[in-house]
Amino acid sequence: MRAKTLLLLLLLAVLAERQLAAGSHPDRSMPGSPHNISTDDRGLQQVVLTAAYSFNNQSNDAFLFKPSAIHRAQRQIVKGIRYVVDLNISRTVCRKRDNSDLSRCEFQPAGRLHQTFRCHLEVWEIPWKHQSRMEEFLCKT
Ligand SMILES: *[C@@H]1O[C@H](CO)[C@@H](O)[C@H](O)[C@H]1NC(C)=O
Ligand SMILES: *[C@@H]1O[C@H](CO)[C@@H](O)[C@H](O)[C@H]1NC(C)=O
Ligand SMILES: *[C@@H]1O[C@H](CO)[C@@H](O)[C@H](O)[C@H]1NC(C)=O
Repeated sequence: MRAKTLLLLLLLAVLAERQLAAGSHPDRSMPGSPHNISTDDRGLQQVVLTAAYSFNNQSNDAFLFKPSAIHRAQRQIVKGIRYVVDLNISRTVCRKRDNSDLSRCEFQPAGRLHQTFRCHLEVWEIPWKHQSRMEEFLCKT
C-alpha cells in the first residue's frame, strides 16, 4: 500500500515535469521534492553560467572565474523550477579587461594564481513568466 502511494507520487512528479517542459498551464504542475539531475542538463548549465557571470561582475579580481566542478545538482518543481547547486568556481587565465569569451578561457595552472571558491547556489525559475531569481549564491575559499 505504502509502496503504491510512493510510486504514484513519483509518477505525478514525472508528469508535472513533463508538463512544465512542454510549457503547458502552470496550475497543473505538482510540487515535488528536490532530486538529482545530470550535470549536463541544459537548464542547469544555463543557471551555472549565469552565476559565473554574476560572480565575475561582483568580484574585483583582474581575471575571470568560471565553474570548474559541480558537486551537487538538484531540481525541484515548485511553482516553476528550483535549482540547488554546489559548485567550484576557479580563476582562469583570461583578464577581465580583455572581454574574453568565458568558454574559451583555460583555468590557471597550479601556482600562485590558482584559486577555487566553493559555492552554494539556489535559483528559482518561473518559465511561463520568463522570471529567474537567484535566491542564494554564497562562495567561500
Ligand atoms: C553588473 O553589476 C552592476 C552593478 O552591480 C549592474 O548594474 C549590472 O547590471 C551587472 N551586469 C551584469 C551583466 O550582471
Ligand atoms: C544525489 O547526489 C548526491 C551528490 O552527488 C549524492 O551524494 C546522493 O547520493 C545522490 N542521491 C541520490 C538519491 O541519487
Ligand atoms: C572543489 O574545491 C575544493 C576547494 O578548493 C577542493 O578541495 C575540491 O577538491 C574541489 N572539488 C573538485 C571536484 O574539483
